[in-house]
Amino acid sequence: MSTIILGIESSCDDTSAAIIKDEWLLSNLISNQKVHEEYGGVVPELASRAHQANIIPVVDRAIKQANISANDISAIAFTRGPGLLGSLLVGTSFAKGFALAQNIPLIEVNHLHGHILSHFIKTTSESKHPQYPFLCLLVSGGHTQLVLVERYNSMKIVGKTIDDAAGEAFDKCAKVMGLGYPGGPVVDKLAVKGNPHAFEFAKPLPKGLDFSFSGLKTSFLYFLRDRIASSPNFIEENKEDLCASLQHTITTILIEKLVKATKQYGIKEIALAGGVAANSSLRNATISAGKKYGWNTYIPELKFTTDNAAMIAIAGYFKFLDGVFAGHDLTPQARLPF
Ligand code: KG4
Ligand code: ZN
Repeated sequence: MSTIILGIESSCDDTSAAIIKDEWLLSNLISNQKVHEEYGGVVPELASRAHQANIIPVVDRAIKQANISANDISAIAFTRGPGLLGSLLVGTSFAKGFALAQNIPLIEVNHLHGHILSHFIKTTSESKHPQYPFLCLLVSGGHTQLVLVERYNSMKIVGKTIDDAAGEAFDKCAKVMGLGYPGGPVVDKLAVKGNPHAFEFAKPLPKGLDFSFSGLKTSFLYFLRDRIASSPNFIEENKEDLCASLQHTITTILIEKLVKATKQYGIKEIALAGGVAANSSLRNATISAGKKYGWNTYIPELKFTTDNAAMIAIAGYFKFLDGVFAGHDLTPQARLPF
């Protein structure tokens, strides 16, 4: 008999529901919240309210698009954390209610494990997933870490940021250039027409496999401040070069550490995950490094890089097979340990 998992993701500002049948994706609906745009960042209270308004219609559409009925669902998997507590509460409460109503098991998923396991979602007969053990460079808005993945439930962080995340570096530098929120995708788009070597910014490389991005952010800010002092239109006139150079710096930092980790652990199965894995420069640089060093490189489909419920459903699927279920007394955690 096949296993059908409904996944729910509500950790930040996107409400998402997905259906997975065994490892196959049947539907993956994402409702983006527009309310935050005018504030230049996610407003937690507005996010929770929007999740409440969106969750039932999104789940309804995911079930319809999958061409199944609610009674076909074997279990419901939801994001327990990390994320915004109010947002997580909406997904968790919905999942509990649904599990009770349908009399099916409840499965908790760590959002970051979801990002990593998104590689196991099957969309075509050609879909390939990494073989264990593999190294995953997980880069999102809140996290930047190198993870040694031994099994779906056995993952070890071998390097992480000591301050800002890579996505934060993109978003904050984009914000000071007036590019809106989230800035990562806009920087990526503008960078296409820019020169990645036009400007040089600080490239902090802490010891070992850890990352640091706050020095880059500061050097970017100071650089702009100095240039604007003598040339008020500097940003407007150099937007593309600024974006290309910033993106190049972030990519270089990430790849340097990834290469170091592969050598240290002697692993050649390499995966990218998280929202910043959508970045074209990082994707290309990882593919090039893969060719140079003989890796099997796994670059996620774009729709599985940023937050989505399909990744929660596939992580839930693996737990379902092992019979690992959550109790109804479980609460969401903003800072859920990895
Ligand atoms: O994984 P994600 O959707 O949410 C978190 O769990 O944080 O990641 C969001 C982050 C944001 O910082 C966003 O700017 C960044 O991913 N991002 C990108 C791109 N698309 C999304 N950064 C650079 N280039 C992109 N194309
Ligand atoms: Zn995420």
